[in-house]
Amino acid sequence: MALESDREELKMMAASLRRHLEWYGRAGVRFLPRSRLSEMAPEGGIEEGLLGGVEGNLFSDYAAAYRANTLEELRAAVGDCRRCKLWSGRTHIVFGTGNPKAKIMFVGEGPGRDEDLQGEPFVGRAGQLLTDIITKGMALKREDVYIANVIKCRPPENRNPEADEVESCEPFLKKQVELIRPQIIVALGKFAVQTLLRSKVPITRLRGIWHDYHGIKLMPTFHPAYLLRNPGDKKLVWEDIKNVLKELKTLAA
Ligand code: URA
Repeated sequence: MALESDREELKMMAASLRRHLEWYGRAGVRFLPRSRLSEMAPEGGIEEGLLGGVEGNLFSDYAAAYRANTLEELRAAVGDCRRCKLWSGRTHIVFGTGNPKAKIMFVGEGPGRDEDLQGEPFVGRAGQLLTDIITKGMALKREDVYIANVIKCRPPENRNPEADEVESCEPFLKKQVELIRPQIIVALGKFAVQTLLRSKVPITRLRGIWHDYHGIKLMPTFHPAYLLRNPGDKKLVWEDIKNVLKELKTLAA
């Protein structure tokens, strides 16, 4: 299953190039010399392939991530990420945690204060509720599933992530999904759901219904932080989780 099509790779490369050029622009550079590719090649020369010749030069932002074969390699490719402006305010990159072979993957919005401090997703109050859903509701352990977010760095004052931040970070989530290959993704909350599904439809209409994320079944449900404010809707999330468990059973049969 190749989640990132050539087209998508090219889109990311174009975005990467744009960011580099914008960076030059901000630094006051108005003209760029025509360098020969060979002068920009990494030590050891240029490899063949779509991304092979570009690693180590202008397009290097994502090349190593696309090539990662394990979550560890992917984490290494994320590095000390500065691909968007969120790097300056973060304490930790919150990459994701759990079973690299999980059948279920939970995807939230982005780290909050506790997650930023600890470097792990869903460890604050909302995280405790998610842990309860996993352990008490599904009779699983946190270590059985995989938990990640659309963006890996905390936005200032927990504001919503901005479009350029999502654009910079979502390739890593896609690659996580590709490497883990879960049977089911549970998308938590309006932001994650609408981002992953490229939809503006309200979550109240999307939740509880199966959707597709690059060939993987995706169940949208409410965010645990929303449930803390609206405990009356816990029963709807329970409906969604029961649906997930039923589907998991069907897939195993
Ligand atoms: N909310 C999220 O969406 N993700 C976290 O990791 C924590 C809170």
